[in-house]
Amino acid sequence: MISLVGMPGSGKSTIGRQLARELGWRFVDTDGEIERRLGESIRVHFERMGEGSFRAIESATLAELAQAAGAAPLVMATGGGVVLREANRAVLRAAGPVVYLRSSPEDLARRLRNDQQRPLLQGGDPLTRLRNLYRERDPLYREVASYTLDTGRSSVPTLVRLLLSQLELAGLVPADRAPPRR
Ligand code: S3P
Repeated sequence: MISLVGMPGSGKSTIGRQLARELGWRFVDTDGEIERRLGESIRVHFERMGEGSFRAIESATLAELAQAAGAAPLVMATGGGVVLREANRAVLRAAGPVVYLRSSPEDLARRLRNDQQRPLLQGGDPLTRLRNLYRERDPLYREVASYTLDTGRSSVPTLVRLLLSQLELAGLVPADRAPPRR
């Protein structure tokens, strides 16, 4: 399993989906899987049950998906707060390479300026919130990551190409893959 971690808006789902496509692997987004299980959006769940309830479901979902990934190769995009629990970091590390998509709070604020779905960014000044989250989490993303990829202003295809070549060089994915069907 290849996991993608990083702040909200860092491109985990977009890049993860493309990476999976290039590899011909299955793609899963933990937030999407959690919403499917809950039968409601994460935003609504936060409002009704609070963050603690969400974090418990997040840990259980992550552990199950990582275990299932033993049987079939998987690219997994995670929620930005998954690294807060040491147990989650241990699950991610044990399951295979972890890629940290690093973006500055300023770039994230620009990308998320119209977002209304992320409960931790609603209300107040989003840039200040992102700076605080970044300060707390950047060390945790680095701790769990096998690779850090600076997203900066690079396009998604460029980032996917960079990531694929790093993974190929490390022998973590086959270099002689068939091209994906367009
Ligand atoms: C969260 C990020 C969200 C989602 C939840 C909590 C966080 O995922 O898991 O709203 O703590 O940063 P994204 O990183 O996909 O926004």
